Amino acid sequence: MSQPTIESILQENRTFAPSAEFSEKATVKSFDEYKALYDRAAADPVVFWEELAKKELHWFSPWTEGLDWSNPPFAKWFVNGKINLSYNCLDRHLDSNGDKPAIIWEGEPGDSITITYRELHQQVCQFANVLKKMGVVKGDRVGIYMPMIPESAVAMLACARIGAVHGVVFGGFSADALRDRLVDAEAKVVITADGGWRKDVVVPLKPAVDAAIAKGQTKVETVIVTKRTAQDVTMESGRDHWWHELMATVDSDCPAAELDSEDNLFVLYTSGSTGKPKGVVHTTGGYNLYSHITCKWIFDLQEKDVFWCTADVGWITGHSYVLYGPLSNGATTVMYEGAPRPSNPGAFWDVIQKHKVSIFYTAPTAIRAFIKMGDEHPNARDLTSLRLLGTVGEPINPEAWMWYHKVIGAERCPIVDTWWQTETGGIMITPLPGAIATKPGSATLPFPGILADVVDMDGNSVPAGEGGYLAIRHPWPGMMRTVYGDDNRFRKTYWEHIAPVDGKYIYFAGDGARRDEDGYFWVMGRVDDVINVAGHRLGTMEIESALVSHPAVAEAAVVGKPDDLKGEEIVAFVTLEGTHTASDELMKELKKHVVKEIGAIARPGEIRFADALPKTRSGKIMRRLLRALAAGQEISGDTSTLEDISVLEKLRG
Ligand code: WT7
Repeated sequence: MSQPTIESILQENRTFAPSAEFSEKATVKSFDEYKALYDRAAADPVVFWEELAKKELHWFSPWTEGLDWSNPPFAKWFVNGKINLSYNCLDRHLDSNGDKPAIIWEGEPGDSITITYRELHQQVCQFANVLKKMGVVKGDRVGIYMPMIPESAVAMLACARIGAVHGVVFGGFSADALRDRLVDAEAKVVITADGGWRKDVVVPLKPAVDAAIAKGQTKVETVIVTKRTAQDVTMESGRDHWWHELMATVDSDCPAAELDSEDNLFVLYTSGSTGKPKGVVHTTGGYNLYSHITCKWIFDLQEKDVFWCTADVGWITGHSYVLYGPLSNGATTVMYEGAPRPSNPGAFWDVIQKHKVSIFYTAPTAIRAFIKMGDEHPNARDLTSLRLLGTVGEPINPEAWMWYHKVIGAERCPIVDTWWQTETGGIMITPLPGAIATKPGSATLPFPGILADVVDMDGNSVPAGEGGYLAIRHPWPGMMRTVYGDDNRFRKTYWEHIAPVDGKYIYFAGDGARRDEDGYFWVMGRVDDVINVAGHRLGTMEIESALVSHPAVAEAAVVGKPDDLKGEEIVAFVTLEGTHTASDELMKELKKHVVKEIGAIARPGEIRFADALPKTRSGKIMRRLLRALAAGQEISGDTSTLEDISVLEKLRG
């Protein structure tokens, strides 16, 4: 890989310090306090994490070693410690906070349910007994393909309770994408629903599970179906069971299993630049600590807060900040089934007003959608319960940041722009809201204990103001442990792009970044062939494979094009097999085909038919050129490696 050629053109000089009132009450109250924490952690990260693990979590028995890094890049945290995430999220709050709302759930059609810690504990214990009854034992993988309903939380926590490894698949993924993930994870049970509400329509889920299993190769023996939308579904006798019927057959006595700190907790699939999606593996103790403490300090959780993270549980943000982080802290978390939608432009503000949400965490793509729907909607609601805002998923453009600050935050709420990844388990670079002044568009500074840097290919730090690769120099508890079933891919993807310096492994995040003179990080986006659509990573390779699997397509190259709403839109360049000709019909068919193969999230915005694709002499598609073409820009830079320059002219033509 060559040196990054990312130029930073963003010049943003505004800074926003938290109010004295906010800082006074915050967990971390000043920049000096942050700096002291940061320095102490940097001097000895392992001791720092050990102290927190002891103070913040319940352990059945203590660890014998904080970090085992003797076989990099395979880390072990809190070695031999015994712990249970579901215990930390539920049992330990029962005495002090049993009647406190754990989950406030709001359905898209407007139905809502509040579940206390005691009630949630009971349901989780009961469902854990259901899993046991169905033969699930520690280490088994359980697929979860559900809408945003409380049962998803119950299912995840029940897996964690008995040491089963959950693999949540976003409900918007297609049957084919679901099948690939179930096959890779060797899941033996799938938990699903009849359907879910999404943008005013009922999305069927159970039929997709049936189709995924019917395609073969999965190891699924049992399907558990919860009722959400009450549409007809077919139940295969012996294999399929209703959630409510099973729940009626078990009691709610189920002590949390004493799991090893390094027992696998979950697998979550994420796109990479090449090959099939990677099953990112997280383990128990380190992930519990990392999601807990980042949630506590970054969102400054206080006893009375109502915390709303708008992510779906199908993504890592939903795992760490809808469920595990807030619940481990004994906080009240809001779960909302709906997505931003023009048919109800005030829906999100209604939820804030109705449930007196105090902390609101969403994605830039949602913020851009809200801006488009108009200020009159938030302006017509009472949003005075809000005291802190957050964003995640992609760089936020300063204008959207300013809108969020003014219209939603009334210039009163700090904004935490949080950089992290599925792989990191929790937030890595972020303001601590009472301590760090923000600059629109910057994720600011690393969380204490995170040794983040901007480096060149040899692992040398680059000077302030220069672009480079975002990298992490020391293991942290929330880090992924491996790619499921593929240690080699884990090593190659994350730890070998940057050469280990003096035998020290450096984590390569795949993002370009620079630091300014204050040390603030400005993340500039992916440096690999990954497109960020609506805050979610899609591998170009996966979309290309989907296109090529259509009989008319010979070759396909997919790039991202800047998009006002989604961040990036997918543009596909396609060459056809001899007997096929380009047409609007075929274009529609190909878009549909991608949706069928992967899901609506991957639908190309544009398909361009071409006679040939621009390639280097070694046959590598030159995406840089396609990106420029898609964005309607002049082609600049070196084209001398292009095998056939006329290809470019034709594409432009
Ligand atoms: C990629 C990770 C982890 C949450 C959701 C996405 C981009 C994420 C930011 C931010 C700039 C960001 C990066 C990262 N990203 N947050 N605050 N500023 N870029 O998870 O699908 O694992 O994607 O999202 O490119 O590598 P993900």
